[in-house]
Amino acid sequence: MPSLLYCSKPLAMVSLLLIAALCHLGSCNGGGRGDRITKLPGQPEVSFGQYSGYIGVDGKGSRALFYYFVEAELDPISKPLVLWLNGGPGCSSLGVGAFSENGPFRPSGQVLVKNEYSWNKEANVIYLETPAGVGYSYSADAAYYQGVNDKMTAMDNMVFMQRWLEKFPQYKGRELYIAGESYAGHYIPQLAEVMVEFNKNEKIFNLKGLALGNPVLEFTTDFNSRAEYFWSHGLISDSTYRIFTSVCNYSQYVSEYYGGSLSPLCARVMNQVTRETSRFVDKYDVTLDVCLASVLSQSMILSPHRHVGQRIDVCIEDETVNYLNRKDVQEALHAKLIGVKNWAVCSSVLQYELLNLQIPTINIVGSLVKSGIRVLVYSGDQDSVIPLTGSRTLVQNLAHDLGLKTSTPYRVWFEGKQVGGWTQVYGDMLSFATIRGASHEAPFSQPKRSLVLYRAFLQGRPLPENFS
Ligand SMILES: *[C@@H]1O[C@H](CO)[C@@H](O)[C@H](O)[C@H]1NC(C)=O
Repeated sequence: MPSLLYCSKPLAMVSLLLIAALCHLGSCNGGGRGDRITKLPGQPEVSFGQYSGYIGVDGKGSRALFYYFVEAELDPISKPLVLWLNGGPGCSSLGVGAFSENGPFRPSGQVLVKNEYSWNKEANVIYLETPAGVGYSYSADAAYYQGVNDKMTAMDNMVFMQRWLEKFPQYKGRELYIAGESYAGHYIPQLAEVMVEFNKNEKIFNLKGLALGNPVLEFTTDFNSRAEYFWSHGLISDSTYRIFTSVCNYSQYVSEYYGGSLSPLCARVMNQVTRETSRFVDKYDVTLDVCLASVLSQSMILSPHRHVGQRIDVCIEDETVNYLNRKDVQEALHAKLIGVKNWAVCSSVLQYELLNLQIPTINIVGSLVKSGIRVLVYSGDQDSVIPLTGSRTLVQNLAHDLGLKTSTPYRVWFEGKQVGGWTQVYGDMLSFATIRGASHEAPFSQPKRSLVLYRAFLQGRPLPENFS
């Protein structure tokens, strides 16, 4: 990987210089003290520490990523560090991950309500808005937003983590996990790969494992699972299923669409599919009633609509958007709006290189497993956008390619007295699991089951096999 070698050394130098400069200004020795959140508006009393603010990721101080960090509820020193990333590309880990899925609070009107199943019960969690242009993260030079790609994102994310650890030195050497969903199926393996490469010169990332939820890992397998999912869940007819798997399949449609040359044939097939599936069904959870605009708009990019402007949003209010656009909230978070008028769930300024969707990351996952990093691929089983069937096949094939034998044959796992989903484990490093009844944003719709899965993953333990 010549490009990595090319990048990592100059970056290390630049970061050392930058850190030295920051320390000189007195902002580096407090373990992130300047970023400490006193209290978020409307927040219930909590005992854990919260921090948020910016980490510059270029040498010039013009590009900075915004993070929100919550320490573990109990005994943060003994708990691992987790970086959570949402997808899009271009959607916010703060708005979706922290405030709709697995963070400690969910906005409700003027206040924040405690989430009983917050992932900071098990770990210290960083929510990162990435790349620049997402949420409060920014590039002062707007030219940066044109054609941001996976490589640029991975490099910024790596520099972020490196500098974040300088700011919070008590977390240096801590066991690190990266978790996320959707397009983070690109972000996470690509970031991990850059970290592993960086570690060869200087081991600063104690990377232990990755959890990938409904991830994009291989474009054609993932996207073409949609047809069968729609058909088997009654969203399209037999005849539409036939043309959606012969005349024009979904990967072809998306390639044409993002390639700027949509053929009349594919347009016709997709019109038929769209008419039958109806826009009143949430493709991110085919059983859930529609609403929850912030959740719906996550990874909107994964489902290109030809008439985005006409998309009916049945939610009049979006709690998170309202909350994060409050001046008092932005002040409490140490957040600024630079180059945008509002905080948005998914970026309106970022021009992401969308054909990067087609870059496979499943092979990167394979090499990470080989290098000793534990990987869990999990699927909310009600998601038709990145259906469980594609992910299951990809993991199964990867295990085969790596020569990993099944160590736990496909079986159910329990949350309490009910089935939480199914799982299969390959060797001791690679596993697949479904979360029963969960959406694309699994911790949003099945918070309790998601927490059970996450806990088992972090502890490196099998998912509960029996009633409890
Ligand atoms: C999807 O369509 C493309 C282009 O026609 C084709 O090469 C590919 O094999 C198809 N994939 C599936 C799973 O149908």
